[in-house]
Amino acid sequence: MSDVVASRQDGVLAITFNRPDKKNALTGAMYEAIIAAMDEAEGDPRIGAVTLNGAGGAFTAGNDIHDFLAGAQRPETFPALRFIRRLAIFDKPLVAAVEGVAVGVGTTMLLHCDLIYAAPDAIFRLPFVDLGLVPEAGASLLLPARVGLAKATELLLLADPFDAREAERLGLVNAVVPHDRLLARAHERARDLAAKPRNALLATRRLMRGDRDALLQRIDEEAQAFMAALKSPEAAQAFAAFVGRRK
Ligand code: COA
Repeated sequence: MSDVVASRQDGVLAITFNRPDKKNALTGAMYEAIIAAMDEAEGDPRIGAVTLNGAGGAFTAGNDIHDFLAGAQRPETFPALRFIRRLAIFDKPLVAAVEGVAVGVGTTMLLHCDLIYAAPDAIFRLPFVDLGLVPEAGASLLLPARVGLAKATELLLLADPFDAREAERLGLVNAVVPHDRLLARAHERARDLAAKPRNALLATRRLMRGDRDALLQRIDEEAQAFMAALKSPEAAQAFAAFVGRRK
C-alpha cells in the first residue's frame, strides 16, 4: 500500500498519511502525492471537501528528518514548500482528524484546515527552534493571530508540547472526540460541508481567511529563513542528535 492513500465517499476526498512505522513522517514523495490528491479534489466538482488523517495511531511526526538531511544543500527543491503553498491557496474545505503525534508541519498544516477533530491522545508540538529551524506554513503569522502572542511564544519559541484538551481550549481544534468516533466525525462534518450550496460556502470561506497575499508573502519569508537555517550548524547538530539517538 502506498504512503499516501486517497479515497472518495459522499463527495469527500479522504487523504490518509500511511507510513505508520515512521509515525507518518512526510517524505518528498508523500508531499507530491498529497499535492496530486488536492489538485484532483479541487478540479473535481463532485468533491466538496477533503479530510486529512494519519494511519496507525499518529497524525504525522512532521517532515522526514532524513529527507531534510538529504536535501539540506538544495532546500529550494523541497516538495514540502510546494505543499505549503498549495495548502494556503486550496479552495475547498479541509477537515482534519488528529490522533497521536502532530509534530512540526503536522501541527502547522492544521492552521489551514477549516475543522479539526482530535482524539484524547493527540499531542501537538512545534519544535522548529529546537531543531535550529524557523516555523513554516505561515505559522509565524497564523498562530499568534489564532491564540495570541503570549501563547504563540510558548508554542513557537519554547516549543512546549500541548495536548488535545489544551488545543481545544486554545481554539486550535473544534472538539476532542473519542478514538472510535474520530474518523466518522471528521467524515460526517466534511460531508455536511460538501452538501452545502457550493459557491456560497467557498466564497464565505475565502472571506473568513482574509488576506491571501499577505499569507503567501509570509510563507515565502519563512521559506527563505527556513532554507538558510537548514544549512546552519544549529540544524545540523539537532538532526544528528535525532539520527544518532539510538546508536
Ligand atoms: N523523520 C524521520 N523519521 C521519523 C520522524 C521524522 N520526523 N519521526 C519519527 N520517525 C521514525 C523514528 O526514527 C522511528 O524509526 P525507527 O523505528 O526506524 O527508529 C519511527 O519513526 C518511530 O518513531 P519513535 O521515535 O520510535 O516513536 P516515539 O513514539 O518514541 O516518538 C516522536 C514519536 C514523533 C515524538 C519522535 O519520533 C520524534 O520526535 N520525531 C521527530 C519529530 C520532528 O522533529 N519532526 C520534524 C519537525 S520539523
